[in-house]
Amino acid sequence: MPAITLTTLQGLKHKGETITMLTCYDATFAHLASQAGVEVLLVGDSLGMVLQGHDSTLPVSVADMAYHTACVKRGNQGALIIADLPFMAGATAEQALLNCTTLMQAGAHMVKLEGGAWLGSTVRLLTERGIPVCVHLGLTPQSVNLIGGYKVQGREQAQARQLCDAAHALEQAGAAMIVLECVPSALAHDVTRAAQVPVIGIGAGNATDGQVLVLHDMLGLSLTGRVPKFVKNFMAGQPDITSALRAYVGAVKDRSFPASEHGFNA
Ligand code: KIV
Repeated sequence: MPAITLTTLQGLKHKGETITMLTCYDATFAHLASQAGVEVLLVGDSLGMVLQGHDSTLPVSVADMAYHTACVKRGNQGALIIADLPFMAGATAEQALLNCTTLMQAGAHMVKLEGGAWLGSTVRLLTERGIPVCVHLGLTPQSVNLIGGYKVQGREQAQARQLCDAAHALEQAGAAMIVLECVPSALAHDVTRAAQVPVIGIGAGNATDGQVLVLHDMLGLSLTGRVPKFVKNFMAGQPDITSALRAYVGAVKDRSFPASEHGFNA
């Protein structure tokens, strides 16, 4: 199988074939997930919670992200690797450029930045310098203290408008992918239809161009016992992890996941 590139993903969007993404933090899972057909491995800063045991993603450093990105690169079998820029590592565009360089040199093919329309100048700077950018909109966990918890975003009309405008502005600035987290399914549908670049959802219904879940969540592993509504345990009924990963890929590809019970209404 040829390696997955942004062109491959763009082609999948245009064919209407859903894109499969999963978080991944080490070489063994990178090997298993990419062999099972997962097209994009996201080295998410969720590692702060599921690997390091913190109660948020805020303590994660650029060094942590670079370490796990390098691990994923070693096990990867052709998937596209995205690494998260952690909390405050992109406070200015210049800091973002330096820190994203570290992540790209560790093995990422693309970086993901949380934020909104204010990210425009950073996205432009990175893109012009040859670093592909995915923007993460909706529920942005690095802003959990500002938002007041892990809550659905974009339910009010003004907030929904703001999110659509941000998606458009960031695409114009050069963003080559959008992740939408915890937004009403109808809003995710509208953003996806308006965008020329792939839109990947998590808790955003099944009309997006692709889906992502946190690896530990979809394997039924939880430190706290609290599982978000948008998660499905793909390990249930499967004999092994490879089968669970294949079941996830199959369910995303045939759009049986997410079902309506995994989504949010306006
Ligand atoms: O860090 C992460 O795992 C993420 C996903 C939830 C999209 O950003």
